[in-house]
Parts: sequence; C-alpha cells; structure tokens
Amino acid sequence: MRVLSGIQPTGRFHWGNYFGAIRQYIALQDNEQAFYFIADFHALTTIRDAARLREYTYEAAVDLLALGLDPAKATLFRQSDVPEVTELAWLLMTVTPMSWLEKCHAYKDKLAKGLPADVGLFAYPALMAADILIYDSQIVPVGSDQKQHVEITRDMAQRFHSYYGEVFTLPEAYILDESAKVPGIDGEKMSKSYNNTIEIFEPPKKLRKKVMSIKTDSTPLEAPKNPDTCAVFALYRLFATPEQQAELAERYRAGGMGYGEAKKLLYEAAMEYFAEARERRAQLEQQPDFVEDVLRTGARKARSKAQEVLARAREACGLKPRPVA
Ligand code: ADP
Ligand code: TRP
Repeated sequence: MRVLSGIQPTGRFHWGNYFGAIRQYIALQDNEQAFYFIADFHALTTIRDAARLREYTYEAAVDLLALGLDPAKATLFRQSDVPEVTELAWLLMTVTPMSWLEKCHAYKDKLAKGLPADVGLFAYPALMAADILIYDSQIVPVGSDQKQHVEITRDMAQRFHSYYGEVFTLPEAYILDESAKVPGIDGEKMSKSYNNTIEIFEPPKKLRKKVMSIKTDSTPLEAPKNPDTCAVFALYRLFATPEQQAELAERYRAGGMGYGEAKKLLYEAAMEYFAEARERRAQLEQQPDFVEDVLRTGARKARSKAQEVLARAREACGLKPRPVA
C-alpha cells in the first residue's frame, strides 16, 4: 500500500508532534510503501522569513531521521522538490467549486477570527489534494483535523473523473491515534500556537527548566495527589513503562511527594527515552551532505511517480504532453 503524509516545517517538532504523529509514521514504514514529505510549500502560508523556512525544513529532516525514519524503507523528501504538485493543484482547482474551499477550516477559522486570509491559505486544500493524488496514495495518515482535507481530495478526484474519466487513485484517511492528546506546560493541548511546547531535542538544561515549569495545582507536599488530572503525570505516562506508571501513580495517591519530584522523574524518563535519537541527531548534524542526499534521492523517486500521474491528468484534460526539455 502506498502510504503518504506531509508535515509542515513551521517550527521544531515537539512531544505532541512525536506521540501524535511522527512515532506513528515511523511505525508504518516497516510494512508499507511510505512516502513522507516536509510540506514547505504549505508552510509558506504561515512563515514569511526565508532563513527560518530553510532552517525549519532542514531541521525537520534531521529530526525525522534521528527519530528513526529510515530512508532505506521510507521515501523522505521536500514537497517543493516536486514542482509537479503545484501544476496538479491548478488542474484540480479548475474543477473545484468555491463553496468547497469556503468550508475548509484553515480558511474558515481565520475569517472567523476576523483575520485577512490570502489566496494560498484558501487554496491550501487543493495543494494538499495534489500532494496526495500525484503519488497514487492509498492511505493518508493524518490527525483528525486533516480528515476534512482528505475527504475533499476524494471529492476533487471524483469531480475530475466526472469530466475527464478515471485518472486518480482515491485515497483513504487513516486517522492517527490522538487518544494521548499531549498536554503542554500550561496543561492545555501542546501546540506551537499556544507557546507551551517542549521540543523533542531541547538542550538538556532547557528541557529541565521547561519540565520544572509545568503548571501544577497547589496541593501541599504532604497531601495525596490525583495523577489523573496532573499534566506532569500525563506526560510521564508517554515515556514510562506500565510498572513505572503504576509506581508513580501510587506515590501521588499516598501523599508526601511534591510535584518537583515527579517533574524530576519526568525529565529523566524523557532524557532516557530520546537518548538514542539524540545521539543519532548529534551524528547527523555532522553530516549535512548526507541529509541533503537523502532528501534529493527521495525527491527523485517521488518525482518520477509524480510525473507519471501528472502526465495522465494532463492528457485526460486535453493538455499536450510536456515537451522533453
Ligand atoms: P502544532 O499544533 O504545534 O502547530 P501541527 O498542527 O503542525 O502542530 O501538528 C502536526 C502533527 O502533530 C498533527 O498530525 C497533529 O495531530 C500532531 N499533534 C500536534 N500537537 C499534538 C498534541 N498536543 N497531541 C497529539 N498530537 C499532536
Ligand atoms: N496540511 C497538513 C497539516 O497541516 C500537511 C500536509 C500537506 C499533508 N500536504 C499533505 C498531510 C498531504 C497529508 C497529506 O498537517
């Protein structure tokens, strides 16, 4: 099965991104033909700073490789290295009613907040549809907020088919397990937009400081505490074995342990959990050519598939085959 997903390089990856998405992408690489890309075209709808976009795009690749994405199994590439997607997005836009895009949440939410939206944000689902259709993707693992976009992708493909005949493979969304909504340091959902993230590769000192700053209630040290309502415990669960979780839950309930102690355990568990990835990351940092090479090799493979599907779409709607340059 062709599995495909994209992740926007709008910042450094955090624990929410890892447990909510990246870990699951990596697990799929063993059994499926996975294509993963860094959605730099999409990130342009939020980042308008060339140096930052370059940095986040590169760091995203390094992070993914360090976390275990294996280029021998999965194809990793930069979205913008396959320019054919923008062309397919155009073809799809010509069969997409305005009303479909008006309902899409990225645009709708921005309007609802009274913020001006640009055409790129409005048309964002058409580019995402092109990303999916251009590789004959069958399974698209995404968070539940992206489900609407995969549905619209199917609608666009079917609309195109109704005019021009069958061209595309219809994809299915595979909704990632978000049961572990990862809380941020303020206890709300961890998200870049809330400024409450803990990045996966935070330097140890900064990591410790962030962990120590996680919001807790004012239950006194001696008193019993409730692990089920505590962000420190919710985060600890992500890193700890069931036995370790049970042990810490017991200490919460027994009283006599302060939140500082739980935070220390969380810090240690997180350091241990990502220790290997940190080592791999340190090595990759010394090998920028290797990282670039992985992205280029990935793009070559992705692009050859994209050209094949785009050629089918061009031919179906009456465009001449592109002359060989
Ligand atoms: P952010 O909210 O920080 O901007 P993104 O929207 O770029 O993060 O999320 C990328 C992926 O990470 C999505 O698949 C999303 O579902 C997942 N994700 C982000 N934050 C969390 C979280 N706190 N808990 C679980 N999954 C998350
Ligand atoms: N829009 C997705 C997000 O914000 C990223 C993305 C772009 C994507 N193109 C895609 C995800 C294609 C899956 C398939 O998370």
